[in-house]
Amino acid sequence: MHFTAVDVIRAKRDGAALTDAQIDWVVDAYTHGRVAEEQMAALAMAILLRGMERREIARWTAAMIDSGEQMDLSAVPRPTVDKHSTGGVGDKITLPLAPLVAACGAAVPQLSGRGLGHTGGTLDKLESIPGWRARLSTAEYLAQLESVGAVVCAANDTLAPADRKLYALRDVTGTVESIPLIASSIMSKKLAEGASALVLDVKVGTGAFMKTEAQARELAETMVAIGTDRGVKTVALLTAMNTPLGYAVGHAVEVEESVAVLAGGGPADVIELTIALAREMVAAAGLDVDPAEVLASGKAMDVWRAMISAQGGDPSAPLPTAPVTEVVRAEQAGVVTRLDAFAVGVAAWRLGAGRARKEDAVSASAGILLHRREGDTVAAGDPILELRTEDADRIPAALDALSGGLVVGPAGTAVQTGPLVLGRIGG
Ligand code: URA
Repeated sequence: MHFTAVDVIRAKRDGAALTDAQIDWVVDAYTHGRVAEEQMAALAMAILLRGMERREIARWTAAMIDSGEQMDLSAVPRPTVDKHSTGGVGDKITLPLAPLVAACGAAVPQLSGRGLGHTGGTLDKLESIPGWRARLSTAEYLAQLESVGAVVCAANDTLAPADRKLYALRDVTGTVESIPLIASSIMSKKLAEGASALVLDVKVGTGAFMKTEAQARELAETMVAIGTDRGVKTVALLTAMNTPLGYAVGHAVEVEESVAVLAGGGPADVIELTIALAREMVAAAGLDVDPAEVLASGKAMDVWRAMISAQGGDPSAPLPTAPVTEVVRAEQAGVVTRLDAFAVGVAAWRLGAGRARKEDAVSASAGILLHRREGDTVAAGDPILELRTEDADRIPAALDALSGGLVVGPAGTAVQTGPLVLGRIGG
């Protein structure tokens, strides 16, 4: 069937639901350059303003998946399950989670991305491990999935190319914040990965993409519906992201904290979220195993070491450390009433942990260590944050980002720290 881009744009502009044929045509024509960037920009804006029905979102996602190759995991002898996080500050959960779930008996095939903006990317964190490489051939990827049970590596260019093009366009046309477009963007990449089950960690709060629980719930429900309609068991947890996860924000420092969790230690919130997501993944994979017991057994650490070594990394090598540190101390005694995730994320980014453009390199050793967290008491002069960077000139801008994000209130001030897991959708 033949359409014109203008007819499709007008239909959505006037509030109509697009037909399956219109969606298939416009996504394919855009991917191959037959629909111009300005036409897709107008359509994206019409979608942002008018929304999409469940059927349209499912079809749009399918069309983006069909724009590229899909991984075939049918030969993997274990149940396959992946997780996706919408991104948060100090969100290193994939690092302990993937080997843990593999140690529970599932296969975790994670094609991952790099950080852009104030949240860090999993590949950037893993690249702080000497020798570790993100790029694998499909044959290497499948072999590792079979031998180790977990792979975290870079998605190649053939995975949902329509989304890559459209996401870049949305970024510069004020059309990122559309729930149908966000949900289809995330799910097209995840579903093209070919796992049989998917667990979504949808973050809510100042350090997250979704600032309110209502928005996060709507995004989670939309993504769960897309996965379910495609026959993939999909569950979402809504989790808090008003303050960083754990005590480390950056790349090498987050790897260290993740290894501490695998070794049986680590911060309580990182352990809690790792176990909560692992329970969902293991259940979605149809396994009857308790991830907390598996973590305590040390088997997840064995898988971690195998997973890192298989990708050329040395799991025993010292991680890079930053030559410059700056300690932020409490000016007076009291209680840390606010340690804002967004402020800490931006500060870490300015220290060199983040990138402004996708081609930029990141500093593996830059980041922030939290000596205190929200609710902790401090004496005057106590260290609260430790800023780490390769370049002392970056310190003032990082301190600037923290202003207002770190507040020490009077001693005895009660600090509300709500639950980490706020809700569950699907299943
Ligand atoms: N992440 C994605 O992959 N796509 C979006 O649209 C937003 C966040």
